[in-house]
Amino acid sequence: MKVNMNFSGLLAAVVLAVSLGTPSDARPAPSGSGLVTVPITRIHKTSHRDIIDTQAIHLQHVNRGNQRLALMSGRPAPTPEELQEIHRRTGELPADLSKRYWREGVVKWLEDLKTQMKGAGSAMSKVESFMDTDGSGSSSGGFNPMDLDAANENTLTPANAPSYDHSLGLDISANDIGYLATIQIGTPPRDFKVLVDSGSSDLWVGAENCAANGGGSCGNHTFIGSSSSTSFNDTQKTWAITYGSGFLSGTIAQDDIEIAGMKLPAHQFGAAQNESSQFTGSDTLFDGIMGLGGSQLSNQGIPTIVEALHSAGLIQAPVTSYKLARLADGNNDGEITFGGMDPAKFDASSKVTVKNVSPKGYWEANVDSFKVDGKDVNLSGRTAILDTGTTLIVGPGLDVDALHEAMPVSRFDGFNWIIPCTTTTKVSLTFSGKEFEIDSRDLTFLPVSSTNLTGDCYSSITRGTVGGDQEWLVGDVFLKNVYFSTDVGSNEISLASLA
Ligand SMILES: *[C@@H]1O[C@H](CO)[C@@H](O)[C@H](O)[C@H]1NC(C)=O
Ligand SMILES: *[C@@H]1O[C@H](CO)[C@@H](O)[C@H](O)[C@H]1NC(C)=O
Ligand SMILES: *[C@@H]1O[C@H](CO)[C@@H](O)[C@H](O)[C@H]1NC(C)=O
Ligand SMILES: *[C@@H]1O[C@H](CO)[C@@H](O)[C@H](O)[C@H]1NC(C)=O
Ligand SMILES: *[C@@H]1O[C@H](CO)[C@@H](O)[C@H](O)[C@H]1NC(C)=O
Repeated sequence: MKVNMNFSGLLAAVVLAVSLGTPSDARPAPSGSGLVTVPITRIHKTSHRDIIDTQAIHLQHVNRGNQRLALMSGRPAPTPEELQEIHRRTGELPADLSKRYWREGVVKWLEDLKTQMKGAGSAMSKVESFMDTDGSGSSSGGFNPMDLDAANENTLTPANAPSYDHSLGLDISANDIGYLATIQIGTPPRDFKVLVDSGSSDLWVGAENCAANGGGSCGNHTFIGSSSSTSFNDTQKTWAITYGSGFLSGTIAQDDIEIAGMKLPAHQFGAAQNESSQFTGSDTLFDGIMGLGGSQLSNQGIPTIVEALHSAGLIQAPVTSYKLARLADGNNDGEITFGGMDPAKFDASSKVTVKNVSPKGYWEANVDSFKVDGKDVNLSGRTAILDTGTTLIVGPGLDVDALHEAMPVSRFDGFNWIIPCTTTTKVSLTFSGKEFEIDSRDLTFLPVSSTNLTGDCYSSITRGTVGGDQEWLVGDVFLKNVYFSTDVGSNEISLASLA
């Protein structure tokens, strides 16, 4: 699917909006904090050609992770100076951008290289391996062009049909930047795509009468309201989420919701009627967000979907389990399961269960150790907020430096660690005595130059610029490597190796 807008930035803004509006963090956004949205630097030359600025996309995710961690930890957000620095960097586009960033350029470069290397044995197979989508677990062939294309074209990769009861497939957004489930709302029931977010606790979709704050519609989405649903009931109770550079507001709606075949009649959720521009792009791939943190975080004061399913007796336990797929594996078996864990998705002997240490309603676990290629980097007393709504891993600056100093790196550019796109390093996190390794392909987020997939790549483990020396925000880069399960009832988190 061809779209013309940078979904990653939009995702950042949307997810952040939810966490910003949480009651525990309710406070006015700092004035002039237009830092949530880094300018989108994809430039359109013609309708069918995009230029991709990988640095801008990377920075958007770094920025979002930092913002999210600031809100989650209650620490100050990045200073305007820090943000300005990000903006400044993002605005610095190379003069030869149009040559360097054509996506077609990547394809042409690979073709040229193949021609040059015809018959050149192992070198040739190395080039071929760029095209490899079999999930070899190594990035020795360089950055996968499939991921670059997905980032550039903002693809939505549909999930296979889920294999277990009470489960929904998870579509992959772009290069594994987020995961979308499809639920049904209203009478007749219609499909809504919602981002699954373990780091917030509200469900919302756009309302039929939704208007963009700047004028116009709220984009090409599916909306809820009385014109499309005979069972729709607007409670008139207002609901709003505000943050520095964007907001959503609307009312609490009540309508029939169906999730993985389970029906929640007259369930309450947010219907957004007024959305700032960050949410209204017609190319946004999701119609709303499903928050699955603790309900004490709910801005709407409503039980989360998993709590509602449990109260209604539709599932045995208020458990949500995630298998997040990796685009590069070429088989989207991603799945969210309510009420239990899908035994086909994990190795039961590897399962560990740990206490949730967050008092606020996030899913946060103690980390025993961080290792690089088996070597302990000696970080103790650290915790990790496990957040499906964050793409990257964001850690305290000194910790992130220590990790990279233990691995082969290209350089530190003053803000980001740059690692070889061909890295085979293994970084692991240990929880309750069980070590979980990150696939080395996941350590490279995007290539620094989209025409050199064997050169430098931005590391997926990024420095937090907001205080705190113990708390990590651990997103999809790690969570793709494990089976992740949360239990609101016992307030515990389970992790297991993938089957
Ligand atoms: C709106 O989205 C649908 C699918 O989600 C797509 O088929 C359609 O082409 C889009 N329309 C516009 C005008 O973008
Ligand atoms: C609409 O919701 C309100 C608030 O929950 C409730 O009092 C009212 O009975 C509902 N109306 C219908 C027609 O379901
Ligand atoms: C949307 O919300 C903003 C911020 O609260 C407000 O200034 C604006 O007037 C609202 N627009 C409409 C149409 O209600
Ligand atoms: C961690 O501590 C051990 C024991 O003191 C030491 O041998 C090892 O080199 C340290 N690792 C790093 C990465 O500093
Ligand atoms: C890619 O980057 C690497 C490392 O900087 C460099 O050695 C190599 O020559 C570059 N290749 C191309 C095709 O630019």
